[in-house]
Amino acid sequence: MSFSNLFRKKSTNVIIQEGGDGEHSGLNKVLTVKDLTFFGIAAIIGGGTFSAIGNACFSGGPAVVLLYVMCAIACGFTAMCYAEFASRVPVSGSAYTYAYVSFGELFAWIIGWALIMEYSIGNIYIAFSWSGYFTNLLETFHIHLPEWLTINYKSAHAAFIANKGTEGLAAWSNAPVIGGLRIIFDLPAVVINVLITYLVYRGAKESKNFSNAMVYIKLAIIALVIVVGAFYVDIDNWTPFMPNGFSGVMAGVSAVFFAYIGFDAVSTLAEESKNPQRDLPKGMIYSLVICTIVFVVLALVITGMVSYELLGVSDPLAEIFALKGVKWMLFIVSIAAVVAMTSVLLVFQMGQPRIWMTMSRDGLMPKKFSEIHPKYKTPSFATIVTGLVVGIPIFFTDENFVLDFTSIGTLFAFVLVCGGVLMLSPQSETELAERATKGKFRIPYVNSKYIFPAIMIVAVALIINYVPTFFTDILDFSEGKMATNLPMLVFLLVCVVMTFLSFLKNLSLIPLLGLVSCCYLLTGMAVSNWMWFGVWLVIGLIFYFIYGYKKSKLNLQNI
Ligand code: ALA
Repeated sequence: MSFSNLFRKKSTNVIIQEGGDGEHSGLNKVLTVKDLTFFGIAAIIGGGTFSAIGNACFSGGPAVVLLYVMCAIACGFTAMCYAEFASRVPVSGSAYTYAYVSFGELFAWIIGWALIMEYSIGNIYIAFSWSGYFTNLLETFHIHLPEWLTINYKSAHAAFIANKGTEGLAAWSNAPVIGGLRIIFDLPAVVINVLITYLVYRGAKESKNFSNAMVYIKLAIIALVIVVGAFYVDIDNWTPFMPNGFSGVMAGVSAVFFAYIGFDAVSTLAEESKNPQRDLPKGMIYSLVICTIVFVVLALVITGMVSYELLGVSDPLAEIFALKGVKWMLFIVSIAAVVAMTSVLLVFQMGQPRIWMTMSRDGLMPKKFSEIHPKYKTPSFATIVTGLVVGIPIFFTDENFVLDFTSIGTLFAFVLVCGGVLMLSPQSETELAERATKGKFRIPYVNSKYIFPAIMIVAVALIINYVPTFFTDILDFSEGKMATNLPMLVFLLVCVVMTFLSFLKNLSLIPLLGLVSCCYLLTGMAVSNWMWFGVWLVIGLIFYFIYGYKKSKLNLQNI
């Protein structure tokens, strides 16, 4: 094995000739800017907005809006990096393909592997949240499913051990027992996964119509939640603004960041969009802007309606109206949640097979993953495998674990995408002119040489002024502190290195800010999540060396 082979790169021209332009891949090119923006919104507003927002408000208080703004900034810079790549490399593989042209094969594989967390593992969280609201909805029609069919085994077991949690305890004691094993699983989560997998299998056009309709419904209902909720806002609830300090705000980072995940899923639809180089960037940026506005207003409304202390529940939007006695809104919110989450499931379930399809074309996954259904024109085998990857863990895992895991994996991929743009070779004047005439997106180049070091100096000055003990606390390596401080220390090191590089290499400011802001969000992740993430990466690397490295199309022996 040669070390340099690990970083072998694909050329953009080869990628496009292989079918990346969609002309040769056999997929239907039907999606417009509006469809792509709708796909973005469909992917973004879901479990994070209807479920995870509750715990984020509970830990951060009204100041959680700051976290929404911070995540929007990080995602905004990253979206521009995705857009730059989508404009240069308009293929379905998303960040995976982008890494292949900038960092080389090993990093491409690592990103592809991390994206499984975003698309598949993320869908497990959403399927659980979907089930929660769907069960609420059934209850309003007086249909009651037994608890052992509406909760996952892990949560029921945890409830039994802790001897608390009404639903979990009821599930544990009432579940049928076969061969000594309690039968407890989340039936609605399993069923919705099967239905979505079938829909995606049937084709992009059908999915597109379904997704567009759902986006209209969910935006309308969220607007209603905001308008009706605004009448119940009591500005006293916004004080104290940051009840648990900044660390309380940062404790919600997984949940808030999760709410933004999805704008990047648009880039997996490159081969099905009519004019990807012009339309993908627009779709991503438009959907991000719309959702940021929705989130900030929604967070202000819900923390204004009731005390943040009452929001630590899994269905906070229903809870606020229940607390205010607005019964008719409970039903509407449950419908909106079910609709919103169905559309998120759909977009993610479309994204994953398209990434595998691209990896398979490159030889890094078995050939079967790029098989296109002759009639439906979808990557059929990869779609079924995605259904299994989402469906099987539904029986074994719980929502909190998958939420953290998804956010860490996605942020990691975002860091590499921003880093990838910094590594792209500058284009010639002719290439830039050609992009401009065709209306293709281009990230504006702002030289960070002096700006970035200046930002860092101002940031350090502000920290020393407002949090004088910050740096001494971080360097406190006494027992137990080392583990909590480690992510921040690594972040500070990244900042120092990037400050030097920006000065020496005249790096482009926007991707640099994207990289640093995503790295900052990563400091909010618990060390235990990093450990699990590390295990996941090691498993991925083992797969790569056993299979992908040998079968890669870039391996000269395979030509
Ligand atoms: N942003 C998506 C959601 O909140 C993942 O469901």
